[in-house]
Amino acid sequence: MTGAVILAAGQGTRMRSHRAKVLHELAGRPLLDHVLGRVSALSLSPVVVVTGFDAERVETLVGSRAATVRQPGVLGTGDAVRRALVTLPPDVVRVLVLYGDGPLVPETLLQSLLDRAETGHTGAVLVTAVMSDPTGYGRIIRDNAGRLASIVEEKEAGVEERQIREINTGIGLWPRSALEQVLPSLPFHGGEQYLTDAAAALLATGVPVDTVEAADPDRVMGINTREELARAEALVRRETNARLMASGVTLLDPATTYIDPEVQIGMDTVVLPMTTIRGRTVIGENARIGPMATIVDSELGDQVVVGPSTVESSRLMAHVVVGPYSHLRAGTYLERDVHIGNYVELKNARVGLGSKAGHHCYLGDVTIGSHVNIGAGTVIVNYDGVHKHPTFIGDDAFIGCNVNLVAPVEVGRGAYVAAGSTVDRAVPADALAIARARQEIKSDWARARRESQTTRK
Ligand code: UD1
Ligand code: MG
Repeated sequence: MTGAVILAAGQGTRMRSHRAKVLHELAGRPLLDHVLGRVSALSLSPVVVVTGFDAERVETLVGSRAATVRQPGVLGTGDAVRRALVTLPPDVVRVLVLYGDGPLVPETLLQSLLDRAETGHTGAVLVTAVMSDPTGYGRIIRDNAGRLASIVEEKEAGVEERQIREINTGIGLWPRSALEQVLPSLPFHGGEQYLTDAAAALLATGVPVDTVEAADPDRVMGINTREELARAEALVRRETNARLMASGVTLLDPATTYIDPEVQIGMDTVVLPMTTIRGRTVIGENARIGPMATIVDSELGDQVVVGPSTVESSRLMAHVVVGPYSHLRAGTYLERDVHIGNYVELKNARVGLGSKAGHHCYLGDVTIGSHVNIGAGTVIVNYDGVHKHPTFIGDDAFIGCNVNLVAPVEVGRGAYVAAGSTVDRAVPADALAIARARQEIKSDWARARRESQTTRK
């Protein structure tokens, strides 16, 4: 049996943050979430995450996806692994060790490590990489025959060792019992025991330690600083954009297009600059998104057009047009051919086939039928200060400009509401509701006023 140990107890001092480093987000998800996702694809059991700094929050993130064990302080990666090993059932003979700050490791690389064990390799296999800039990493020291001899951390490396560009990624498959034997007696470096020292310790007891070199060094980088985080983000973004373009999506300016890796976009859709598309968003074919649109966790049908607007947790059917400058909040559902213009806010709103709200509206907690016209400045007064109330507007209704619909209220099918009305009682189907002060005309009032002012002068 092979288990997995993920180290996530460190603070990540170099991030300069109140949050544990592994909780910082890459492509919209915490670093540790990426690592857990990759490990879960391998069906290793058990998976143990070592927590310490910010342990509650890290454990909440882990949830039921893995077991957790706490490390009481920053005692080093060697100590962290030791604490995980004691929790493993006896039939676990090998452990895959990963660092929680290495979110991009390819599953294929992990799989190839596991395959090595299947072919009868009983020692340790560690993943190395050749970095153009190895600063900060542990360096791989090899003997004259080119075999791994030890790993030296940057802090302890001499000038010559620092020139070595082959580094330790921290990813490795270790034989459990041999590791358990050497870990307690590893040397201390200012209160920390390094897992990296276990390599030489195993070799000293006659256990072979081999290496595999990662084909793509970018994918095995450890994230210690915000600069490295930004570099990883740029890498993921470049890959996501390239994949989308290869699948038939036009990105007018990939450099200013921010799309999360899970997002799906159909063929011939065009994404204009300065656009962010996040989370579990799915967009159909031939859509046009942006410029400056933000789409989060939403479903957009074919040929939808969204200008500079924000769409969150919403569903837009085919041919819907939105924006510029509108805000679709959670629970917005727009049927085919709906047209939402500028400065319209919707929340928990269902709008039927072909209905229109062109200008300056608030439409909250409302069900609107098909072919309804919502005039400029319409406000659904859905909140009485304590509770939210629903509003229903029937098919073919016409709501004039500057109307307040005080919920709970219903406007029947085909009814008209006159401009400027404040409606707080049901409007029957096909009726006209006028709820505003009647206009008065005072003939010649203005002329009389002007003349009186002239006389006074
Ligand atoms: C570590 C390696 C280094 C390697 C690099 C790869 C050691 C001593 N050094 O350095 O050889 O090149 O990763 O990215 O292993 N952690 C714990 N408990 C601790 C200390 C750390 O769980 O007591 C966790 C951290 O949360 C982190 C991971 O282990 O997820 C690695 O720790 P980090 O401080 O980032 O080590 P590096 O200096 O990057
Ligand atoms: Mg690190």
